[in-house]
Amino acid sequence: MQKRTLGSGGLEVSAIGFGCMGMSWSYGPPKDKQAMTTLLHQAVERGVTFFDTAEVYGPFLNEELVGEGLSPFRGQVVIATKFGWKANPADGGKWNALDSRPEHIKQVAEASLKRLQVDAIDLFYQHRVDLEVPIEDVAGAVKELIQEGKVKHFGLSEASAQTIRRAHAVQPVAALQSEYSLFWREPEATVMPAIEELGIGFVPFSPLGKGFLTGKIDEKTSFDSTDFRSSVPRFSPENRKANQALVQVVTSFAERKKVTPAQIALAWLLAKKSWIVPIPGTTKLARLEENLGAADVELTSEEVRALEEASSMVEIHGARYPKSHQQLVGR
Ligand SMILES: NC(=O)c1ccc[n+]([C@@H]2O[C@H](COP(=O)([O-])OP(=O)(O)OC[C@H]3O[C@@H](n4cnc5c(N)ncnc54)[C@H](OP(=O)(O)O)[C@@H]3O)[C@@H](O)[C@H]2O)c1
Repeated sequence: MQKRTLGSGGLEVSAIGFGCMGMSWSYGPPKDKQAMTTLLHQAVERGVTFFDTAEVYGPFLNEELVGEGLSPFRGQVVIATKFGWKANPADGGKWNALDSRPEHIKQVAEASLKRLQVDAIDLFYQHRVDLEVPIEDVAGAVKELIQEGKVKHFGLSEASAQTIRRAHAVQPVAALQSEYSLFWREPEATVMPAIEELGIGFVPFSPLGKGFLTGKIDEKTSFDSTDFRSSVPRFSPENRKANQALVQVVTSFAERKKVTPAQIALAWLLAKKSWIVPIPGTTKLARLEENLGAADVELTSEEVRALEEASSMVEIHGARYPKSHQQLVGR
């Protein structure tokens, strides 16, 4: 697997990382721990050195799984985690409140270090911008954690260009993690010019469009009630039906290149910029191998242009988030 570098601090990771969220959270009930541990090992054996988790995935279950599962490979892999959510007593204890106060960030760091079984967190992202706390204070708290040797690199998720600039002035940001795929190209206009200028890496989450771009989801697919996609407007049955037009574009390119739609979706991201590192998530070895195969799929600039031209003709139906989530992004 080729390597890529995120940010000016030299954080080197495999060109394709592994999003671990779906093993424990968001896409139905947590998966079998032993099977997921084996999958983490198989990912390392296949050259993956970049793993993505967060305090809130579970909460805690995913950090525990990743920490324990990757403990034999300590020092050989980069584990990214995220802070910034907390339980909301006003909403039955659901983890849907934000808290990026410096004292909270420091508590989360200590707890994440234990769960991840590491001496330092390789990459510590703020999961969502907290308007109650100036971003300079957030960056300052992470800077202190870096000075103490507890964190190595700082990241942001779904932050606006202005917030990124303000944070970066206090503590250089290694990576921005935001949604980006052929299903959601807004970052090209909103944040990518700024992060390119500042030398910040980009880690697209949901690079397969939460599975949609793979062609394995259609209007007949049923999602578990605990599957986040059951509340996403873009994934309503009628919108899934309408959005198949995009899948058809990706599938026809895949057929021409003799690869799979998932590989086209990932190869497109890799072709866009050398500082982009997608983190597709899966709970299945065959799909992991398929996704990693995208690192060997080269798209020429002419192919990238043709894919963008064809996909931009398709009107995407439905918001990518329910309203409650949408108001927390891009701030
Ligand atoms: N910062 C944030 O706010 C944020 C938000 C969302 C996600 N993330 C991170 O980004 C990672 C990836 O995003 P994501 O999991 O939302 O979306 P994704 O990677 O775009 O898609 C994952 C979905 O696609 C399916 N899938 C994966 N590979 C496939 C293939 N080759 N063929 C068919 N289906 C395939 C998976 O199901 P199976 O498991 O059944 O294969 C899963 O349902 C997460 O794991 C998480 O670490 C971060």
